[in-house]
Amino acid sequence: MSNSDSFSVTLKENRRFEVPPAFAAQANVKAEERARLVEIGRKDPEGYWASVARELKWRKPFTRVLEWNAPFAKWFVDGRLNASENCLDRHLEKDGDKTAILWEGEPGGESVRWTYKELHARVVAQTAALRKLGLKKGDTVAIYMPLVPEGVVAMLACARGGFPHTVVFGGFSAESLKDRMHDAGAKAVLTADYGWRKGVKVALRDQVVKALTGGNPGATGGTSTVKHVLTLKRESVGGAGRAPAEALLGKIGTADEYDWYAVANTVEPSKRAVLGAAEEVEAEHPLYILYTSGTTGKPKGIVHSTGGYLAGVTRTTRDVFDLKPSDLYWCTADIGWVTGHSYVVYGPLSLGASVFLYEGAPTTPGADRFWDMIERHKITVLYTAPTAIRAFMKLGTEWPKKHDLSSLRLLGSVGEPINPEAWMWYRDVIGDGKCPIVDTYWQTETGAIVISPLPGAVATKPGSATLPLPGYDVDVLDKEGKSVPLGQGGRLVIRKPWPSMARTVHGDPERFKKTYFSEFKDGIYFTGDGARRDEDGYVWILGRVDDVLNVSGHRLGTMEIESSLVAHPKVAEAAVVGRPDELKGQAVVAFVSLKAEFAKALKESGGQDQAAAKALKDELRAHVAKEIGSFARPEDVRFADGLPKTRSGKIMRRLLRELATSGEVKGDTTTLEDLNVIAALKAGDEE
Ligand code: WTA
Repeated sequence: MSNSDSFSVTLKENRRFEVPPAFAAQANVKAEERARLVEIGRKDPEGYWASVARELKWRKPFTRVLEWNAPFAKWFVDGRLNASENCLDRHLEKDGDKTAILWEGEPGGESVRWTYKELHARVVAQTAALRKLGLKKGDTVAIYMPLVPEGVVAMLACARGGFPHTVVFGGFSAESLKDRMHDAGAKAVLTADYGWRKGVKVALRDQVVKALTGGNPGATGGTSTVKHVLTLKRESVGGAGRAPAEALLGKIGTADEYDWYAVANTVEPSKRAVLGAAEEVEAEHPLYILYTSGTTGKPKGIVHSTGGYLAGVTRTTRDVFDLKPSDLYWCTADIGWVTGHSYVVYGPLSLGASVFLYEGAPTTPGADRFWDMIERHKITVLYTAPTAIRAFMKLGTEWPKKHDLSSLRLLGSVGEPINPEAWMWYRDVIGDGKCPIVDTYWQTETGAIVISPLPGAVATKPGSATLPLPGYDVDVLDKEGKSVPLGQGGRLVIRKPWPSMARTVHGDPERFKKTYFSEFKDGIYFTGDGARRDEDGYVWILGRVDDVLNVSGHRLGTMEIESSLVAHPKVAEAAVVGRPDELKGQAVVAFVSLKAEFAKALKESGGQDQAAAKALKDELRAHVAKEIGSFARPEDVRFADGLPKTRSGKIMRRLLRELATSGEVKGDTTTLEDLNVIAALKAGDEE
């Protein structure tokens, strides 16, 4: 069947939807309350955030709110707490028997339901296991896992022991994993033999082996800091695993490999509580490092604190998703991304919510997998990415229409600008016109949502993230640092520090300063995004103004992909740009000039479009997938004798972007060193 009942809508400029009165009546934050919070946040931001932080469970309450030595912030400085205690222990008395996690594996019929008591017990056991292996407060642990409930246990067990974790998304290659483990100085890796994605087993442990031994299991692993590997058998997900005697599985390089559950089982039940006790840490103790792409070839390890981070994510989860005790909340992000950290794990669990998790692909086994799960489990809040929404739109309305989605009461979007068409489809087809949509703008660096409607208080406009949340001093500036008038585009900044902001780039405070605080003076944080405010002050995100791409909601640095291409033995030079893509937001296009001998061979074989060239393009695309991860694989590779450069030698990406998008260069070429290059690139295009 084609999309006969396909959805069509004519968008009026700046269409506006008022808050549905029934929703407003029950909302956690109603309009008057929002106005009050915004006012307090404006007049006394520290007082506002202190009141937010006081809702956490502190072992030692803070007396000092902020030390701001721009650009380095310390929040709730003398307070002490533990993040896993906030996410687990504090709910046990009242909500111990409430569902904490409901998980479905990709293969049908597989599910796990853990109450808060059960999740707590598992986290305690795992912290005890990690301590038994010798890990101490401050030791970093890498997590490279599929989206199974043990992934959440892994994060919380690290938080419990005071071991900063660094979760590496399972789609990253062995090379990327190695770089991140190395940069973070990880002492242990928590992994699984495999996970399911699109009906295929994705082997994770194999990548860990490659990362630790260069693919040669006999190798010693060189300078690796990793001493322990804990491997979860996919078949023991949700179970109890093996007997203690089977704990030690063998060696991977110089690291000992253990069975995930068996190590925990070696701790006598009577000793678990003590060995798995929550470590009291300072508010500023790093909760995690998360690597994200920037404008250089090397990803940045963004460091988040414990107290400030947890305060930010807990409050925004409560207010933006309007969570109630009866909700079953589903954020579709993987725990490998910041959205998974803040809005799968720390925010919702700190609030005591019931969280739904799904391991696999949205369309496995059928195009209605998401809708089927929403119907079966009566999911009430759905938080996903525009890329997914656009993909569902393309598949047709018949898939969601097969299911009763009436349990849904709120829809969220994150990761990239959502186009008004996708917004409207989400609202009308998935939300049946009755669910408010929260388009949430934020970043790995901000830790928590910055701009979003409060669904019971703020009218929405398709395509706009609407207004900053209380406590954030958001502005749009011109190059000179002056606020631009409403209606005009500029750079999106946050003027004052906020609790969940990144503390530094791991091992490179200078880079932190340079990347985020050098564009403007006076400790103003620059997001890297362009934005415009309309006549109502609503923020419209215009996308990155730096060399960062957003492909399917995943951040990728153009330099990162270029470095990987240039590392290929046949490549002399490479320039990577983004091309607008209907589904992914942006697609990666790589312009490559080959080393002379290979360029010559390519010419002799007939040029761009011949079999030899195609094979080489595939080789380069596969190379990037291997070096970084399959999601970074260029959509298109084009060969050129040279790349367009300015007279000072800078690659003119703007021209390449124009070429990649329209096949034409219309813009100014007066600074171009060699006009022939463009002619050649265009010729290549037309072949
Ligand atoms: C983009 C993901 C428009 C933006 C949470 C930002 C968005 C980058 C939105 C951060 C949104 C995220 N509307 N653009 N609602 N949300 N972005 O670090 O360019 O993976 O700078 O964090 O995604 O991506 P990151």
